[in-house]
Amino acid sequence: MTRLDWTSHHARVLKGSVRVPGDKSVSHRALMLGALAEGTSRIRGFLEGEDTRATAAVLQLLGVRIDAPADGERVVHGVGLHGLRGTTQQLDCGNAGTGMRLLAGLLAGQEFDSTLIGDESLSKRPMRRVTDPLARMGATIETQDGLPPLHVRGGQALHGIAYTLPVASAQVKSALLLAGLYAQGETEVIEPHPTRDYTERMLAAFGWPIDFAPGRARLSGGHTLRATDVDVPADFSSAAFFLVAGSIVPGSELRLPSVGLNPRRTGLLQALRLMGADIRVENERESGGEPVGDLVVRHAPLHGIELPEALVPDMIDEFPALFVAATAAKGQTVVRGAAELRVKESDRLAAMATGLRALGAVVDETPDGATIHGGPLHGGTIESHGDHRIAMSFAAAGLIASGPVRINDCANVATSFPGFFELGNSCGFELKTA
Ligand code: S3P
Repeated sequence: MTRLDWTSHHARVLKGSVRVPGDKSVSHRALMLGALAEGTSRIRGFLEGEDTRATAAVLQLLGVRIDAPADGERVVHGVGLHGLRGTTQQLDCGNAGTGMRLLAGLLAGQEFDSTLIGDESLSKRPMRRVTDPLARMGATIETQDGLPPLHVRGGQALHGIAYTLPVASAQVKSALLLAGLYAQGETEVIEPHPTRDYTERMLAAFGWPIDFAPGRARLSGGHTLRATDVDVPADFSSAAFFLVAGSIVPGSELRLPSVGLNPRRTGLLQALRLMGADIRVENERESGGEPVGDLVVRHAPLHGIELPEALVPDMIDEFPALFVAATAAKGQTVVRGAAELRVKESDRLAAMATGLRALGAVVDETPDGATIHGGPLHGGTIESHGDHRIAMSFAAAGLIASGPVRINDCANVATSFPGFFELGNSCGFELKTA
């Protein structure tokens, strides 16, 4: 990947309508279920990001025809539950934890062996959280001391288990449910805190009998997935940077149309409102079985909060953005119970604390969170650590810093949000390539 650095400069005001790209979680799942279904599924609003394209490329290597008739559209020609073909090629998931962990579950039930690999960041992310419970189901998956590559052995007879997740993780839950499609008997997943339920909702939409409620899901093997069309909402996690940016730049007003509002994703909305943000939901409706609405954010003075721990799983990808809002707030913001942030695309607690300090903020890091003290930011240089959400959060921080913020290594933004640079600048960001 070619190296790309940005500078983000002080902005006068943010105005306009910002159409953020399709949801990453939904796009991954739509490809996978479409591939395993009988018939042809059309996906609209597909995220044209590197992560989701990597998943499409993996499925194509496994013999699935996927057409791209237009930007943001995919037509998946399903091969049926047992129609994937093995390949000796390594299956490259790129930067995508979701791709790798869900595919591990899906591939555990095949007749052929597969090898899943990822980029430098993904190669450092823990995989035992999926391989251990999958092994209990009868799968054989070798890791490198718990890390990728994953060698998934084919031809294993899987059986259902009841499993209580030690950490709240939609990826682990989904991996087990996908393996459960191939298992004898019932697979049940119980979560310590409910996580995003896209896999469950989409399995139901594809006609697989599944019983689920917040915090638990249960299905049995041996049914059929029937092709269906999927409308992907705009990604709340991509909207998050604009919710924060619009809140902290005086005089701003931004409209974000058709954003997915699944309650397991909108923790940041609640957190920002607790901090005093002015964010309205308009035109709330249902699209493709998901709640969707237009978000309107206006600048408002923010104050620090003690973040309720129960919100953590519902905003697990939004902490880098929250940290930026917290520096713009009066008083201190306390985050606890968020140790999972240390095993995301980067160690996000360390990356945000170090980066914000380089801009003059006072941040006390703890093993499972941080206390962020509100105060002015000055210019400086920060490292994204190859993490898209760190890069975009500091682009938002630059809007209120007194000097330019140089963000090193921004190419990774393309994994989840291609077009962020242009879209940001179209509503008043002052981003430049460095
Ligand atoms: C995701 C689940 C979350 C989230 C990730 C996407 C998913 O990961 O951080 O960006 O699509 O299931 P965990 O399951 O590790 O919490």
